[in-house]
Amino acid sequence: MAKTNVLHEWFPTAKWPLVISAPMFTVANGALAAEVTRAGGLGMVPAGMDPSTESPHLAALDSQLTIAHQILPKKTESSSADDESRPPLPIGVGFLTLLATPDAYRANVLPILRKHRPAFVWLFGSDPSEYGPLIALFHDECAEFCGGLKVFVQVGTVEAARQAARAGADVVVAQGSDAGGHQWAQAASVMTLVPEIVDALRIEAEFKSGKEVAVVAAGGIVDGRGLAAALALGADAVAMGTRFMTCPEADSNPFVRNTILSTSDGGATTTRLGAEWITIRSSANDAIMGYPTWSKLYAGRTTLHSGLTDIANGVPVEQVHESFKKGLTEGDETRMFTFAGTGVGLVQKSQSAGEVVQEVRTEALDVIANLKGNL
Ligand SMILES: Cc1cc2nc3c(=O)[nH]c(=O)nc-3n(C[C@H](O)[C@H](O)[C@H](O)COP(=O)(O)O)c2cc1C
Repeated sequence: MAKTNVLHEWFPTAKWPLVISAPMFTVANGALAAEVTRAGGLGMVPAGMDPSTESPHLAALDSQLTIAHQILPKKTESSSADDESRPPLPIGVGFLTLLATPDAYRANVLPILRKHRPAFVWLFGSDPSEYGPLIALFHDECAEFCGGLKVFVQVGTVEAARQAARAGADVVVAQGSDAGGHQWAQAASVMTLVPEIVDALRIEAEFKSGKEVAVVAAGGIVDGRGLAAALALGADAVAMGTRFMTCPEADSNPFVRNTILSTSDGGATTTRLGAEWITIRSSANDAIMGYPTWSKLYAGRTTLHSGLTDIANGVPVEQVHESFKKGLTEGDETRMFTFAGTGVGLVQKSQSAGEVVQEVRTEALDVIANLKGNL
């Protein structure tokens, strides 16, 4: 663990141990983020991947941050959505950076940050050794209006964690292979990834940068046991995605909610469709969905679906993509799938985001107390 948990200092409204809701594109939103923050966690709004002028992703970010402002109590009566003097919004914004350029961010992203003043940003989707200019942009040009914007970078290997720290990240999110959604194609699980990253960053700080970098664990953390375990491994906080997907505030569609709630036994299970479904990590999902190509560093974990089975059986990816599109148009659930982590079997009910945060935190404290009592 970092010697002092700097997250305490940076996010004074948060309660400990800290639960962060991951910036899940198409699932998380301003209401979910605000309820997480209101319950003492740190909520996040996804910004998608398109930083261009007229970007629909940035338009959605703007409106979701406005919703978060409306839900969270205002510090002062006079605060308005454009009031640059008010304190930062205790919420983060998650950028998928595969199409990022500092120029596009300067022109189109900074005005939104200036307007809403989030407390931190989270970057994911590039080669972390290339993040230097983007991180410098956030640090240098957001210092005044965001009260010192903190930059999180999500990584899946120890080397990537070092690269992120050298590029200037304030927080490294150690994303293990159990995670839902996109992740490192070759990551290890949180069990080994987190302690090795913690050690590597301590050495970086002591012998090179002198800068303390906090570590957040993500991937397969679903309840208080997972939170307690992550703290034991040296993490300063956790980020959870899959657990929040069935919250009423989330934008998950009914298929996604049903798939997650109807699974048991984590990795391998039977859904209401009657097929054997497991979660599986594959780089083919983007081509099937028609997403912009992610670099070979990344792959996505989803429930196993007919598209992946088709590809395994030699069906050309273009044809699988057409079937996926047709299935979407016709509402054919046999062609659908959801990004989700291996912890999916531990998500057994739909609870409000605030309840999730409080339950996970309380359970973790109980686990820690029980462990102490039993030793
Ligand atoms: C549906 C879904 C969408 C996701 N979208 C994003 C995203 O837009 N940006 C991002 O940085 N991570 C994204 N992730 C990954 C999360 O940041 C995080 O690493 C992951 O949810 C942690 O694992 P867990 O799902 O087991 O809790 C997504 C995850 C899921 C399940």
